[in-house]
Amino acid sequence: MPELGVNIDHVATLRQARMGNFPDPVSAALLCEKAGADSIVAHLREDRRHIQDADIRLLRKHVKTRLNLEMSISPEIVNFACKVKPDQSTLVPERRMELTTEGGLDVAKGLKRVSKSILKLRKAGIPSSLFIDPDRRQIDASIKAGAEIIELHTGRYADAKGTIRKERAFKEILLAANYARQKGLIVNAGHGLDYDNADKIAKIEGVNELNIGYAIICKALYAGLYKAVKEMVRLVKR
Ligand code: PXP
Repeated sequence: MPELGVNIDHVATLRQARMGNFPDPVSAALLCEKAGADSIVAHLREDRRHIQDADIRLLRKHVKTRLNLEMSISPEIVNFACKVKPDQSTLVPERRMELTTEGGLDVAKGLKRVSKSILKLRKAGIPSSLFIDPDRRQIDASIKAGAEIIELHTGRYADAKGTIRKERAFKEILLAANYARQKGLIVNAGHGLDYDNADKIAKIEGVNELNIGYAIICKALYAGLYKAVKEMVRLVKR
């Protein structure tokens, strides 16, 4: 059975909309753990659009399961990670204008820089996972770079329209997962997974962990909204 990592960036996105203290991603992380999450994922982006440095420090202090720091390979962020020491780092590509991480890390192209970052993080005691497209070339490059863990990008599968396209995208993930496992890598998966499509990925043999954020936070909004309004109605009309 795969584990579940819950990405709490979207809680910080809401907080940053008012630049205040609420909702607090750390409290959200603790609630996710209480509900059975096996790890907490947070992405410290170079532009600090949602998660802030202080959040990571607090998460490091309070997360009881595992803290998985999603991050670019920029030296500033790698240095920060080495100081804070999350349980794991997940290296992702980052572009300023993107809405979210839009593709896998091109490890084949950036082999030298990726290897250097993995080595630096390993020296600080932090294992690295590489977020890559489900593609043999990227898997081979990840091994060359010294990674022991990969996270297969499930975005194309999640976004695929129509049964044929969806099935084709699923097959890519299935083949990539099998290939990577045969090569001895730990295989995680994530991006765009939701309450309808996660199940199929979770059933792939040997998939170690699914990392899911957006769908969970969206669901939480509806699941909790009724109670929140009811309580305010009671307060206002008392
Ligand atoms: N894994 C990685 C590497 C990601 O970049 C993200 C998005 O931050 C996720 C998983 C979670 O994706 P989503 O929020 O679409 O569930």
